Amino acid sequence: MLTILFLGDVVGEPGRNAVIARLPQLKEQHGIDFTIVNGENAAGGRGITGKITIELLRAGVSVITTGDHVWDQKDVVAFLNFEPRLLRPVNYPAGAPGGGSIVLETAKGKLGVINVQCRTFMQPILENPFHAAEAAVTKMREETKNIVVDVHGETTSEKIALGRFLDGKVSAVIGTHTHVATADEQILPGGTAFQTDAGMTGPHNGVIGMDKTAILRRFLDGQPARFEVANGDIQMNTVLIDVDETTGRARAIERLRFRAD
Ligand SMILES: [Fe+2]
Ligand SMILES: [Fe+2]
Repeated sequence: MLTILFLGDVVGEPGRNAVIARLPQLKEQHGIDFTIVNGENAAGGRGITGKITIELLRAGVSVITTGDHVWDQKDVVAFLNFEPRLLRPVNYPAGAPGGGSIVLETAKGKLGVINVQCRTFMQPILENPFHAAEAAVTKMREETKNIVVDVHGETTSEKIALGRFLDGKVSAVIGTHTHVATADEQILPGGTAFQTDAGMTGPHNGVIGMDKTAILRRFLDGQPARFEVANGDIQMNTVLIDVDETTGRARAIERLRFRAD
């Protein structure tokens, strides 16, 4: 059995610190072979840097996915070309820096990760995620059947549709971006583990990881305000997936949520 830990959006320093402090223990406790973390908000809520990428990889993260915030930090462009374990959505047009998929060797065989961004209520609007994901999966299946897809999107419907579309072709489809975990973890009929959104790792006493004061001001009077990362009630929202590495089919999916402060 190939055991995979998936963490949705890691927000700011509190989120990063929770991953770095807790990951070794989690890996041991659950016999985790491979860890995927969405890092698009790891740098002060906005993007990810090369330094943070290295810190997360050193802490034991196997692959870092991203999304619409991927370009927020300037140094990420050079770093995406330098570090293949940091992904940007696969459905960027040809010529964009970095890559949207990777296959790595684990103790239990090869495992591939694909990062795709949805289009509904998302900016920028990228190429069709269904066609892009299908093409990436078809290519990857020549190498391995063990595949996890991070679907980064705002609407539950688009992510569920992608899950149904990829059912039977990949081991797991897990959503990110909303920072709120959904209670719909399941194994789809074709053997694909699915959850609409993994939720976030970071401070839960604000509004999706950011301090509530500036957010509320913007909602109340419509004035632009600079958002800062919240602090307090640090939680980790994680998804644990067991995959039969001989078939690529998921055997179990479990949602684990706990305090990390
Ligand atoms: Fe995010
Ligand atoms: Fe996002």
